[in-house]
Amino acid sequence: MAKYPLEPFKIKMVESIKMLSREQRIHKIKQAKYNLFNIIAEDIFIDLLTDSGTSAMSDSQWAGIMRGDESYAGSRSYLHFEESIKSIFGYENVIPTHQGRAAEALLFSTILKPGDHVPSNIHFDTTEGNIRNNGGIPVNCVIDEGLDPASTFSFKGNVDINKLQKLVDEVGLDKIPIAMITITNNSGGGQPVSLENIKQVYKYWKKHNVPFFIDACRYAENAYFIKLREKGYDNISVKDIAKEIFAHANGATMSAKKDGLVNIGGFITMKDSELAKQMISRLIITEGFRTYGGMSGRDLEAVAIGLQEGLNEDYLKYRIEQTAYLGESLLEQGIPIVQPPGGHAIYLDARSILPNISQEYFPAQALSVSLYIEGGIRSAEIGGLMFAYIDEKTGKTIYPELDLVRLAIPRRVYTRSHLDFVVQTVKKVMDNRHMLKGLRITYQPKLLRHFTVELEEIS
Ligand code: F0G
Repeated sequence: MAKYPLEPFKIKMVESIKMLSREQRIHKIKQAKYNLFNIIAEDIFIDLLTDSGTSAMSDSQWAGIMRGDESYAGSRSYLHFEESIKSIFGYENVIPTHQGRAAEALLFSTILKPGDHVPSNIHFDTTEGNIRNNGGIPVNCVIDEGLDPASTFSFKGNVDINKLQKLVDEVGLDKIPIAMITITNNSGGGQPVSLENIKQVYKYWKKHNVPFFIDACRYAENAYFIKLREKGYDNISVKDIAKEIFAHANGATMSAKKDGLVNIGGFITMKDSELAKQMISRLIITEGFRTYGGMSGRDLEAVAIGLQEGLNEDYLKYRIEQTAYLGESLLEQGIPIVQPPGGHAIYLDARSILPNISQEYFPAQALSVSLYIEGGIRSAEIGGLMFAYIDEKTGKTIYPELDLVRLAIPRRVYTRSHLDFVVQTVKKVMDNRHMLKGLRITYQPKLLRHFTVELEEIS
């Protein structure tokens, strides 16, 4: 039996959840055009759509909310925010944004020209969207193990330097104005990147004079994995590991809604003050003044405190072990998941669960829909619906390497019984999988289609 960690907290406030009847759930999903983003949260029993902005804040963070300084310019809360970020990331310039994608939009609108390429291990969907929206081309260069759901390699988020070299040879350095890495690698199963790999990738780009930025949403979970798995780090504090990570990059974007343990907030931070100045000019037009950037003073205060709490090692032990518990319990039931369990989520391997539904009929979305019908559970499709695109040259649809269903675990929110219920529900769906039908798109927008897509079941 998988081991459940002891929670290093007790519960001070609760929020009710309720389960609709099966008939109601079937009605709701049809009404939602088979898109779980269209279901209202009250109609969900266990919401594993995302770990983003869904954390339970601590008593210290709530106290910080009351102390928030709402001054337009130079608020005390901004100074706390800046100080907290500098103590971890160590860069000179800190620019607040309302969330991660606003930081990405600032970065790419400042740096990219049409036709530029941006390599990473695997970009997240909003990062891809922001690159494409600025005329750029996202390129994923994760190691092959990172694309094999069954590989149990410890650092499946690592970048393959040979793939970087291949890209440089193909497009030339003048078409690569920035390079990135996502830690942990969300779209590849929440898998960590090793410090050794970060150092090598940084060295590679430094040699070529290409600025290297880290998408740092889940850097604390990544740093904890380094402590657990990488040789030489078991006696080093997670905060020191985090500092070492950021010492090997030129900057970082961050959605504080993940390892910052807040409901809203983000930032971009970097060494280069000239680049920061250009971004601040854009920030003032699009987000707000440079000392609040789309957040209220109280939100800045909650981020300042949450970032430090997110590095607490008792918390991280609980966090990573809770996710592993869900993964191991599913494996015990014979359910194929991306191995080993990631940091913030477990990813069901939809293509092996539903081999009878071909990629063009979105097996991962079909699985996700059935988890809602079976147990009121909301999950996220991370597969063809999210990532397939039409190749402009050939007109062909290019499908991603993996079709996954992500069960993302909000931080400090669900208990062991909730997770046990999730396991039972997935098992029931698995046992009846021959009954599941594929889906067909009836409406889609141009970018980030999974948020607003509409579907119908194929007969
Ligand atoms: N980068 C990564 C790796 C992410 O996972 C996300 C968000 C972002 C950037 C954008 O941050 O939402 O604050 O604008 N991921 C969420 C998720 C939405 O569900 O994984 P944001």
